[in-house]
Amino acid sequence: MNVIKVSRLYVRSLYRFARGLKQALAVGGVSGLGECVYCRLRRFQTSPQPKGESRKSAFDCKYGVDTDGVVPTYELETDGPNYIHGYNYQGCNPAFLGHAFARLNLSADQYCFVDLGSGKGRALLVASEYPFKAIIGVEYARALHEIAKSNIMTYKSGTQRCSEIRSVCADAAEFELPDGPLVVFMYIGLCT
Ligand SMILES: C[S@@+](CC[C@H](N)C(=O)[O-])C[C@H]1O[C@@H](n2cnc3c(N)ncnc32)[C@H](O)[C@@H]1O
Repeated sequence: MNVIKVSRLYVRSLYRFARGLKQALAVGGVSGLGECVYCRLRRFQTSPQPKGESRKSAFDCKYGVDTDGVVPTYELETDGPNYIHGYNYQGCNPAFLGHAFARLNLSADQYCFVDLGSGKGRALLVASEYPFKAIIGVEYARALHEIAKSNIMTYKSGTQRCSEIRSVCADAAEFELPDGPLVVFMYIGLCT
């Protein structure tokens, strides 16, 4: 039984690998293909997804959400061809983002916060502690977007200032920004 499961996993990974190379070649030509192969090789240098309770971040433990880990997006199904330019999912540092928000001196409910490449939604949850009018995350990897939706439902804190939060599954390059004043956030993660 396990042999069948493992074989299926390998076949699926091989299929994704081949599909990725084909798309990279179609979209970026030989240099796109080279870039894609390079990204895949870098995978071996990235830290694995944390396993077990003890490796959970303080943020995930405190709020019972799932925003930890490093996920190479080329391993995930994405909408649109831009995935060859994307790198890993990795949540931002909540304290750093909090400091940045505090320095913005946001006037109440005026700005909409948009996170382009929102992953599992950690920045959206951090932003919800500040007086934003609405919070929107744009993520092209469906699996990460689904996790973000669940995190948005789960997240509860007595100090939350904005409950108008949503994750949109789309390519940031094709996303139409909402009207009105915006705070736009983009975080590419740490190169590990
Ligand atoms: C380093 S993570 C940042 C996650 C989140 N912003 C945070 O700070 O916690 C970058 C995310 O951008 C996503 N991404 C990269 N290119 C994208 C694109 N063109 N459209 C939508 N999402 C993209 C990746 O899948 C990944 O989840």
